[in-house]
Amino acid sequence: MSSATPLLEVDKLNVRFSTPEGEVAAVNELSFSLAAGESLGIVGESGSGKSQTAFALMGLLAKNGRASGEVRYEGVDLLTLSDAELNRRRGSEITMIYQDPMSSLNPYLTVGEQLTEVLRFHKGMDRASAFAESVRMLDAVRIAEAGKRMAMYPHEFSGGMRQRVVIAMALLCRPKLLIADEPTTALDVTVQAQILRLLQDLRRDFSTAVIMITHDLGVIAGVCEEVLVMYAGQVMEQGPVSEIFASPSHPYTLGLLHAVPRMDEAPIGARLPTIPGNPPNLLALPPGCPFAPRCVMRDQSCLAPAPRQQFATSRRRACHRSLAEIAAAGGER
Ligand SMILES: Nc1ncnc2c1ncn2[C@@H]1O[C@H](COP(=O)(O)OP(=O)(O)O)[C@@H](O)[C@H]1O
Ligand SMILES: [Mg+2]
Repeated sequence: MSSATPLLEVDKLNVRFSTPEGEVAAVNELSFSLAAGESLGIVGESGSGKSQTAFALMGLLAKNGRASGEVRYEGVDLLTLSDAELNRRRGSEITMIYQDPMSSLNPYLTVGEQLTEVLRFHKGMDRASAFAESVRMLDAVRIAEAGKRMAMYPHEFSGGMRQRVVIAMALLCRPKLLIADEPTTALDVTVQAQILRLLQDLRRDFSTAVIMITHDLGVIAGVCEEVLVMYAGQVMEQGPVSEIFASPSHPYTLGLLHAVPRMDEAPIGARLPTIPGNPPNLLALPPGCPFAPRCVMRDQSCLAPAPRQQFATSRRRACHRSLAEIAAAGGER
């Protein structure tokens, strides 16, 4: 990555949960770095460890969860901070948009009350300045008649408008890092595209670094510079988005790419092909590569853990197959 001191450096992050059935390894040896204003995508099917990665970065894991490794934010390891020190950054410098937009909003308070409270708490603003700044932010997320909307309750907004409010709330304190966990999954396709475009514009305007979490590789295109492809808590491959779209280096990525509609085909509403089978139960992982049981390119070697390989300038992969074999399988795309 280009910038001298990255905003965020994650080094061998592991997340473990203790459960009565045994230890769940939800995130394994995840490493990446993110420069100020840059955008990283984390993509993978449901259960691959995306949200737990985000929660670990935010210090918000469930009680039975434990993160290890290093999460250096401006050089400070967040995993070593006290709750008080973390709280100072969380919600202002580092914010998150949760998978369920309603979980970020209190149904009993007006949107205005909720927005101004964030500014009063984190920035110590008086009521009038907090109100003015909140209206400005609602404007920025393109909510018409923002002043009037301040007096409305969350249920009076449509799904897409509500998500704009949530985005406004997340950006209110001008965070340096925004983590967006499937921010458009609950929305219909047209609204999804609008929200993604909005996030793109805001990222540029506020030079906020973004971690975009999604199960849909299509969301990553045009939004992120780098991407990390996860499966069953492990990183299958990572690197620049343009390179990974042009020449994926892992059969799992190939499968995900085939599930992304191409502009010239896939009529609206068409069912997309998905990878046959389901991700494994993390308490009963197959030996070796976790993707092997669903991989059309597997052979005996995949029963051993996949070798981790670094190639090109900044790409990493974990797969027994050679790049030539993957390229041949990628075929006509
Ligand atoms: N509190 C918990 N205790 C045990 N396992 C958990 C807990 N929270 C999440 N997990 C497991 O961690 C794995 C990764 O979950 P998650 O990161 O939420 O997936 P996703 O990629 O869909 O966001 C899942 O298998 C999930 O069941
Ligand atoms: Mg999730």
